[in-house]
Amino acid sequence: MDLHLFAAPLQGLTDYHFRNAYARYFGGIESYFAPYIRLDNDRQINSSTRRDLLPANNSCIPLIPQVMSRNADEMLYLASFLEEMGYTTMDWNLGCPYPMVAKRGLGSGMLQEPQRIAEVLRQVVQNTPLKVSVKMRLGYEHPDEILSILPLLSNLPLKYITIHPRIGKQLYKGEVNLDAFAACLELCPHPIVYNGDIHTYGQFQELSDRFPSVSRWMLGRGLLFNPFLPEMIRQKQAGLPPDWLCTFTTFHNQLLENYTQTLSGDSHLIQRMQSFWDYFSALFPHNKKELKRIIKARNRAEYHAGLALLFKAQ
Ligand SMILES: Cc1cc2nc3c(=O)[nH]c(=O)nc-3n(C[C@H](O)[C@H](O)[C@H](O)COP(=O)(O)O)c2cc1C
Repeated sequence: MDLHLFAAPLQGLTDYHFRNAYARYFGGIESYFAPYIRLDNDRQINSSTRRDLLPANNSCIPLIPQVMSRNADEMLYLASFLEEMGYTTMDWNLGCPYPMVAKRGLGSGMLQEPQRIAEVLRQVVQNTPLKVSVKMRLGYEHPDEILSILPLLSNLPLKYITIHPRIGKQLYKGEVNLDAFAACLELCPHPIVYNGDIHTYGQFQELSDRFPSVSRWMLGRGLLFNPFLPEMIRQKQAGLPPDWLCTFTTFHNQLLENYTQTLSGDSHLIQRMQSFWDYFSALFPHNKKELKRIIKARNRAEYHAGLALLFKAQ
């Protein structure tokens, strides 16, 4: 069976700077899902969103943009914006768990409205030439909520349904609910993408053993904890490649360079890089002291000093 690996959208992390640096030095990802976009109060799409999706900024990246809305008109407006940019697929975010979003009936906050979800999707698929996919959780309050939604979607022409088997209220805590995911597989005629807690090769293996009919997998934080993970999964190798440090360093420098071109001021740049180190740190489990220097750096000089110590310690 073909193996399809997708990169999950991570707002604030997997923007075009990250995607370009990543795709240059690491393989294995078939398509990247972009962090969600939405209309602001004036029904506008802001300039940083436009920049992130601009085809010129994603020329080597197979990209699937994602939208967030609870309203078919808005979705269609976003769809025509994406169509004008040359995109052919649009993903709908029904998974975001953050209370600020969910309390407004957006993201996972809409999962308690199965009829509305089906109606919005019906209107959207009938009125856009884009292919539409959906990324969702099991529910907001309860993992059974999805069981009322999937049957309503079965006649709609959806490209994929990505399921992250947690409920919105869990945020990212607690276990993924694999029994509930198994029940979804039974119910759904659409291609299902599994997403959630594939952070090591072993976790992928366990999941693919348990769900042999699943061929599509989405990796989110795992890609940042270990950027080599997709290639390790494809090669069926549990260990990092021998030259991992050299590849990681080159990738890191490219990422830094990409952000240097658009972020003004040391502190913006360093904070942005530090948000990646919340994840990259996992590659360096024995270097707490050196990592602390990086995480605490306040300017470029301190950041580079921390990096030099870390790389020297390997
Ligand atoms: C910081 C952060 C930002 C995220 N942004 C998005 C987003 O824009 N759209 C979306 O569908 N999911 C978003 N997610 C959820 C991830 O795409 C993914 O579903 C989740 O992290 C679980 O998968 P993982 O265990 O492979 O990371 C975000 C998650 C995190 C931690």
